[in-house]
Amino acid sequence: MQTRKITKADFDTIVEVIDRWWGGPISTFAHPIFFYELGEHAQVVEADDQIIGFLLGFIASESSLLTGYVHLVGIHPDYRRRGVGRLLYETFTEACQSAGCQRMKAITTLGNEGSIRFHLAQGWAAKEIEDYAGPGRKRIVFTRALGELRERRDRALDS
Ligand SMILES: CC(C)(COP(=O)(O)OP(=O)(O)OC[C@H]1O[C@@H](n2cnc3c(N)ncnc32)[C@H](O)[C@@H]1OP(=O)(O)O)[C@@H](O)C(=O)NCCC(=O)NCCS
Repeated sequence: MQTRKITKADFDTIVEVIDRWWGGPISTFAHPIFFYELGEHAQVVEADDQIIGFLLGFIASESSLLTGYVHLVGIHPDYRRRGVGRLLYETFTEACQSAGCQRMKAITTLGNEGSIRFHLAQGWAAKEIEDYAGPGRKRIVFTRALGELRERRDRALDS
């Protein structure tokens, strides 16, 4: 299994399948800005001649911290729990590290248990923040420091 950079044809496919993959209307989240303006690091995974996963993410500067931000990740329902999400996160994280990012960030809604478990399983820190997305719109904000990641990898290589 490998990731590759997203194409316009992939983006079109994502827009068409995304509501089905999520089990509800979400296609507005796949805004074209995440392909045209912010799509340099966006990735897809293919299997059986179809797209089975995608990650829309970009690098931003937040409070002068260079941050790899995962906007949206989705895996085909028939291909979940096979490591596709993990592979997309690892590939994007490596690209962000190479670009000098100090941390990673993602958000999700309360109750999205799959997303919460997925991030926690990969060692991301989670924090509930009131009004994050506007009045009464609490979100769970996930972060991961990349310095720690790099140190852990260096320690593993030394041992
Ligand atoms: C969340 C999502 C991206 C995970 O992708 P995935 O490819 O199934 O995840 P992986 O197989 O890489 O999982 C890695 C680890 O995360 C944890 N995990 C992933 N999904 C989980 C779930 N639904 N429940 C509990 N733990 C989960 C597990 O520890 C898993 O390792 P394991 O299978 O060896 O136990 C996928 O379920 C999805 O597309 N969900 C719908 C869209 C969504 O909510 N996206 C995130 C918010 S934008």
